[in-house]
This record gives sequence, C-alpha cells and structure tokens, in this order.
Amino acid sequence: MTQLAPWFGLSGRLALVTGAGNGIGRATALGLAERGAIAVLLDRDQAGLEAAAAAIRAAGGEVHTRLLDVTNEAEWHALGDWVAGKWGRIDILVNCAGIARFDRVDEAIMETYRDVFAVNVDGVVLGMATALRFMRAAGAGAIVNVASTAALKGNPGMASYGASKAAVAHFTRSAALECNRAGFDVRVNAVMPGFTQTAMAEQVHARFDDKLGGREATMKVFSSGRTARPEEIADLIVYLASDRASFISGSVIACDRAQSA
Ligand code: NAI
Repeated sequence: MTQLAPWFGLSGRLALVTGAGNGIGRATALGLAERGAIAVLLDRDQAGLEAAAAAIRAAGGEVHTRLLDVTNEAEWHALGDWVAGKWGRIDILVNCAGIARFDRVDEAIMETYRDVFAVNVDGVVLGMATALRFMRAAGAGAIVNVASTAALKGNPGMASYGASKAAVAHFTRSAALECNRAGFDVRVNAVMPGFTQTAMAEQVHARFDDKLGGREATMKVFSSGRTARPEEIADLIVYLASDRASFISGSVIACDRAQSA
C-alpha cells in the first residue's frame, strides 16, 4: 500500500487562480476543478471569466468568479474578506495573471517597466500575502506562481518582462523558506513555462514575425520547436498544488521541452 496522497486528489480544496479568464490560467482552473477543487476564478476580464466558468460547469466542476485587478491592494483586501466570510480558508493559490510588454533598457523604459512590474510582481506579492494569511492560520496550503523561462537569461526587447519573472522566482524561494522556517506545511513553488499557445504568444508573433523573418523564425527564437498547449503547463501547476508534491517547495521548475536546458 502506498503512503502517498492519491494522484492529484483535490476534493473540496478551495483553489484561487488569478488570470483564470484566459490561456494558462483558464486551463489551470479547469484542471484543478476536474480533480475536485472548488475553483475561484479571478481576472479583470469579465467575458473571459464567464467563458472559463462555463467550461468548468460543463465539466461538472464547482466554480465561482470574481473580478480582480491584481495590481490593486484594496481589491485584494476585499477579496480576502469575501473569502473569509464565504469559506474561511484558501488551500491553493495560483498566481497566473501576467502581461508582456516590449521594451529595451536603452530606450524610454519606465512606463512599460511600471506596467509590467505592477501586474507580474505586485500582483504576485499581493496574492501571496493574501493567501499566506489564511494558510499560516491553517498551518497548510500550496502556492504556485507562474514565472517564465524569461527569468533565466537576459531578454533583449522584453527587458522588464524578463526582470519581472526573475523577481517572481526569487519571491517564490523567499516565501517558501519563510514558511518552512516558521514550521508551516505551506509550500510555495513556481513554474517557468516555455512559449505557450495563448494570446500572449500571439502578441510576441505580432511583434517579432516581421523583424525576424516570419512565424517560423519567431518560433525558433522563442521555443524549442513548438509551442506548449496551455494544458501542458496546467498539469504541472496542478501537480505542484496537490499533496502529491509534498516534498517540493521553493522550487522554480521549467516546463519548456528542453528550451532552457
Ligand atoms: P493570457 O494573456 O492568455 O492570459 C493572461 C490573463 O491575465 C488574462 O486573462 C488577463 O486578463 C489576466 N490579467 C492581466 N492583467 C491582469 C490584472 N491586472 N488583473 C487581473 N488579471 C489580469 O496569457 P498567458 O500566456 O495565459 O499567461 C499566463 C501567465 O503565463 C503569465 O504570467 C505569463 O507571463 C506566463 N507565461 C506565458 C508564456 C507564453 O508563452 N504564453 C510563457 C511563459 C510565461
């Protein structure tokens, strides 16, 4: 008999997902709900939220939605109050909301830098702070942040984006160590997706295809041959959120088919 938790069993867990209206976040929310979690979908895109929730309902899952701008601290506080009143706990948080902007350090960068850091870094830090209040009180929980392989090397043309994802990786490690040292069974990890077939990838194509000589040329620069399907990234996130990943914390894991190897 195995003493390990059942594969991906998430029955009754309260799972919050930011950026759940589209792309990787939507696939993650569906993956969590398919394994029994109560999915709370957070996004600033109302239409995206409704479509994502409809997919979960059609699959027989339990789903709730709420508009949230992850950059807004007051909205996170209000979300915390709502969750406290309704469920009194957060078992899982996936910080997936993110934006990509194109900029260079040697050109006017401050506006894009502020925009990108507000969503990709402030959003993740505020999310972790909100969830950790619940998780530390309960003594347990799992957080998965969505970074990027852009965290690993310099990113000419997407300087702020790469730096924001490096910050996400580092906040992940620090939060994991803090939880561990305080003796809480709260795990904090990050995934680094490679190039994934979402609206964000299309933004990259729109920006670089002409410059680089076509779609295939952009694919060569940004991927190891093909894009990931959002579900391929979501599966790793769901695993890390599950008890089956009980010995994984403070890890920043690439899911990129050898692109960064
Ligand atoms: P996407 O553009 O399809 O989805 C991003 C979601 O975040 C959207 O639903 C959007 O409304 C939401 N969002 C943006 N700003 C927000 C805000 N201020 N408040 C609340 N929600 C907000 O993009 P995708 O590809 O699904 O991205 C998800 C995550 O994966 C992002 O953090 C991205 O940086 C990361 N990633 C994506 C890669 C790719 O190739 N698509 C590669 C590596 C990382």
